[in-house]
Amino acid sequence: MKIGILISGRGSNMSAIVEAVQSGRIPGSEVAVVISDKKSAQGLEKAKERGVEAIVVARKGRTREQHDADIIGELKNRGVEFVCLAGYMRLLSKEFVQAFSNKIINIHPSLLPSFPGLDAQKQAIEYGVKISGCTVHFVDEDLDHGAIITQKSVALSDEDTAESLSAKILQHEHEQYVEALRRIAEGKYEIIGRRVVFSDNFSGS
Ligand code: GRF
Repeated sequence: MKIGILISGRGSNMSAIVEAVQSGRIPGSEVAVVISDKKSAQGLEKAKERGVEAIVVARKGRTREQHDADIIGELKNRGVEFVCLAGYMRLLSKEFVQAFSNKIINIHPSLLPSFPGLDAQKQAIEYGVKISGCTVHFVDEDLDHGAIITQKSVALSDEDTAESLSAKILQHEHEQYVEALRRIAEGKYEIIGRRVVFSDNFSGS
């Protein structure tokens, strides 16, 4: 399975995926390319350090559809079949989602459907929830909305800030993302309506 990873920033989830693939934890897979929409993304260097091609496809005033078509072109040129969003900060167009139907996954730092969108950890603090976490899900045309693959809960303490909660959740994101990708790559699942049903009841922890 040829994987493409889309980033916009730090790239810690991308690094975790690349390392998992390179260590054989996701059998039969290869990270073919890392694409950032931002030239300044720190993750670009991290990808190159790990021996993965990393390119910038900047938006440059183009429409979402035009920009996405550029990215789809770069992915298809490299034979990419599966896309991981890892801190990619743009909503995908309908055309992008359809070009990789049920082959795009994302990680979001909350227990969806709570707190979709930007600053999920800040939203959780402000709402006053006692538990948050992270969600790995398929990507559909709506923001942070597709069928859920796995979720991991994280308890908040009264002292938590958006920053400390982000750090707590991030500790689990890398493991969750890699495990979700491994299970999807194994192919032992069905998507039934909104439910991703694994043949052995996997749902994260
Ligand atoms: C993570 O918190 C992820 O859940 C969210 O964006 C952040 C990306 O961090 N979608 P990184 O670039 O993977 O370090």
